[in-house]
Amino acid sequence: MDDEILFVIHSYKFTTDYEFMNDAVSVVGLGKLGLGLALCFASSGVETLGVDVKEDVVDAINNGKTPIVEPEYQELIDELGEKFRATNNHAEAIEKTDITFILVATPSIGDGRFSNRYVKSALKSLSEAFGKSKKPYHLFVISSTVVPGSTEKTFIPLIEQYSGRKYKKDFDVCFDPDFVALGSVAKDFRNPDLVIIGESRPEAGDKVEALHKKMCHNQPKIARMSLISAEVAKVSLNAYITMKISFANTIANLCERIPGTDVDAITSAIGVDKRISPYYLRGGLAFGGTCFPRDTKAFMTISQQYNLSPILMESVERVNVVQNKHLAETVKSFMTKEKKISVLGVAFKDKTPVVEASPAVSLIQELVIDDVDVTIYDPLAMESAQTLFDDEISYSASIEDCLNSSPVCVLTLMSKDYKEAIERFVPKEKLTVIDCWRQIDADKLHKNINLLAIGRFNDLQNGDDQK
Ligand SMILES: NC(=O)c1ccc[n+]([C@@H]2O[C@H](COP(=O)([O-])OP(=O)(O)OC[C@H]3O[C@@H](n4cnc5c(N)ncnc54)[C@H](O)[C@@H]3O)[C@@H](O)[C@H]2O)c1
Repeated sequence: MDDEILFVIHSYKFTTDYEFMNDAVSVVGLGKLGLGLALCFASSGVETLGVDVKEDVVDAINNGKTPIVEPEYQELIDELGEKFRATNNHAEAIEKTDITFILVATPSIGDGRFSNRYVKSALKSLSEAFGKSKKPYHLFVISSTVVPGSTEKTFIPLIEQYSGRKYKKDFDVCFDPDFVALGSVAKDFRNPDLVIIGESRPEAGDKVEALHKKMCHNQPKIARMSLISAEVAKVSLNAYITMKISFANTIANLCERIPGTDVDAITSAIGVDKRISPYYLRGGLAFGGTCFPRDTKAFMTISQQYNLSPILMESVERVNVVQNKHLAETVKSFMTKEKKISVLGVAFKDKTPVVEASPAVSLIQELVIDDVDVTIYDPLAMESAQTLFDDEISYSASIEDCLNSSPVCVLTLMSKDYKEAIERFVPKEKLTVIDCWRQIDADKLHKNINLLAIGRFNDLQNGDDQK
């Protein structure tokens, strides 16, 4: 009997909860990821409002221009026209939409943790507006990467404090991490392998799941779990990938020393085994960018918080540092007396201007310290490179100019355009090209070009005695 009463009370509670009016969403933080998420929601037919504190970001979007360099962003803005709008007023997100995704930056703060200050500031503005609003319910979805535990320990109490509303009654919270890569953000949002949803209540998770299903062009695995499990899952996935990259790099280094070996032959074979899989198993350069290095650190931090020694991730981090040094040593070993090196690609990967933790930046830094005359080319990352290196290096206007500038050129990006330009290039003098991802077809090269492929045994590198 008691059970029956409880069941009735339980059902009543949920059926009288606020019914979502139209499932309009707002995305707070229109940066590299947030703008992509907002555009993908909007183009899948979800009524979407973008929110950002930066006036220039809001103005650019409302004037039909993407403030972020990412494939598809401009095309989506053109396609959507007036169907997608941005504002800097957080109250509009509360009044006009029922679900708000928060995707602001969570910068690293040195000790392996991320700062929650932008998430807190966004939630404070939203919660104050929610407190003043007559709307009975709102769903807050945290998508920024946070140190596990942040949602329950910090964000939920903060929403309660500034809104005066009650958790699981007036509002719910989900943690919905993104597994997208810069350079293909819009594509990845619509075609994920996996969607992880941490939820305060199943009803809230259902809403987020429905939105993903609407946006996805594929049918990803949707994994629903507690808020804290989702937070740990986010950093675990990236930590695993960095471990895999480091393993592939270890094989690549070995192959450079063992006559007759080729890292691609090995990784493409072992990657077929389902226990391994072929992705992120291409030896070459260290991992970089805005996510992998810091998620690895975050995994270490959380381990330490729970008195576990993070030996595995510490090793991954060490392997990565060594991989950067290995590239610098290899490049320097080919330097002529002129001490001139050109570098094609400064960003951490192709099709993005992001230079954070880029192996190319680490290489250039090492060369500059050694007074090497460095010339670079990377149109997307030119501005960031100038901020980092100013007049310490030279900047080319084309791939060809860059190749002409030095007797040794390093190709750091995995890019068809760069590969084809090098294969077409006719050098004025002898040139050594160091191909970090083994893309270039040696048979297509001009006879004055020597090719050295990272991760492959090479006579150039090992000398005749090891042939
Ligand atoms: N970059 C990646 O590859 C990647 C991948 C997965 C997850 N993430 C995570 O996604 C989050 C966002 O990263 P990003 O690279 O898009 O950041 P970003 O710096 O490119 O963009 C953040 C945006 O948030 C805005 N903002 C800051 N405070 C605000 C506030 N109070 N209200 C409204 N807008 C505000 C900023 O003006 C900026 O436009 C981070 O937590 C990051 O770790 C990033």
